[in-house]
Amino acid sequence: MRIWIKDIITKETGSVELSGWVSIRRDHGKIIFIDLRDATGIAQLVFLGGNKELFESASKLRPEWVIRIKGQVNKRPDKMVNRDLPTGGHEVLVEGLEILAEAKTPPFEIIADGMEVNEEVRMTYRYLDLRRDRLQRNMRNRSKINAFIRNFLVEQDFVEIETPILGKSTPEGARDYLVPSRVDPGNFYALPQSPQQYKQLLMVAGMERYFQIARCFRDEDTRGDRQPEFTQLDLEMSFIEREDVMSLNEELLIRLVTTLFPHKKIQETPFPRISYKDAMEQYGTDRPDMRKDKDDPNLLAFCWVIDFPFFEKTDNGGWTFTHNPFSAPKLEYMTDLLIGKNIPEILTTQYDIALNGFEIGGGSIRNHKPEALEAVFKIMGFSEDRIKNHFGHMLQAFSYGVPPHGGIAWGLDRLVTLLHNEPNIREVIAFPKTGDGRDLMMNAPSTVLEDQLKELSLEIKTKKKK
Ligand code: AMO
Repeated sequence: MRIWIKDIITKETGSVELSGWVSIRRDHGKIIFIDLRDATGIAQLVFLGGNKELFESASKLRPEWVIRIKGQVNKRPDKMVNRDLPTGGHEVLVEGLEILAEAKTPPFEIIADGMEVNEEVRMTYRYLDLRRDRLQRNMRNRSKINAFIRNFLVEQDFVEIETPILGKSTPEGARDYLVPSRVDPGNFYALPQSPQQYKQLLMVAGMERYFQIARCFRDEDTRGDRQPEFTQLDLEMSFIEREDVMSLNEELLIRLVTTLFPHKKIQETPFPRISYKDAMEQYGTDRPDMRKDKDDPNLLAFCWVIDFPFFEKTDNGGWTFTHNPFSAPKLEYMTDLLIGKNIPEILTTQYDIALNGFEIGGGSIRNHKPEALEAVFKIMGFSEDRIKNHFGHMLQAFSYGVPPHGGIAWGLDRLVTLLHNEPNIREVIAFPKTGDGRDLMMNAPSTVLEDQLKELSLEIKTKKKK
């Protein structure tokens, strides 16, 4: 039976079967060494000239061929131990070799970190790019982070609930991706910019503590810390105050870092707090980089930014929300909100969390009073009709016994990126989009069949010139 490479160290005198990819072949005349790679590590295979047929097969092996071997695990002589590898004290003397798949020469080195390779080539051959050590580590750690978060929240009585991907447009500040309805020509679903409204409706539904590792879609220009499709740790809680949400998230972040990234140093706990106004005055940004030593790659300076203005002026002189129309104002501004007075002074209950100069999360206590939510839309100049069309379901739900509630969403890709000192969130996403929103491996977006368009009652008026 096949065993993992990491386990050869426990089979010192036995015969083992291993499977994996040829990483490197080194020919030394009468002896051939192969570095064999599987999901758990690298093993040094040894082929000796004594078995002619086997030796000849081994001499044919090329990088990235997939093989299965049988052999004896031996301890390496002291001088030959490779201290950089967990399996470096052992090697496998091969007695049988089976070639499972040959491989073309890859378009780039798999054993390097890949930073030097052209991005388009990496994305086109992402399944090869992902084989490299660095990306394997990023993906595997990301999985551990998800598992840690799940365990922590489930322990605290949170319920993981999936919300729809085909939904209704949510005003999250970005452009929606739209999906045409076949059965209802001319009508569209919107992909969620976040599960914001659904999670609030789950609070009305009495779930009390919800979380989801949720995919979000925003049709905006891609940047180093921004993808059109990204992942949030999204959560919402009932019968809580701002402090409850902040302290729970702070505890989760601290535990996650100390458990999974013990070599990292959190600069200050409890996380410092700064008002939006002070952040702008002192750092010129609402996501300050508070690191005292910017040369230390293992220093994590978390901070909370609070007391954001609720509204900002639009280009045409009206008002719009700065973060989320569903936020509640701080209690002392509730009267002003209800009567639409001193609008620029109204502060929200919003809290953002920044890490080393990046915004890694944000949330707020919500406006659970229907009249206060309505007041927000009125300040933004929405007509009764628009309020009813876009938010009628929320106002209606809130009329059936809504608990006070609030929550937060982390930009999980950003957090994972920073924990790995990666320069770009693409390095921690298995199949990211390029700068212009393309998936070069699958070649998406792409044209569709005329029949598909017809079925959706769609017609393309202008085609992009090739
Ligand atoms: P917000 O819009 O601030 O809040 O999003 C929460 C966090 O998600 C991350 N983020 C992104 N990451 C990668 N690519 C993007 N395009 C992108 N956009 C946002 C950021 C951000 O802090 N529903 C509210 C949360 C709430 O109020 O509970 C929301 O989505 O790290």
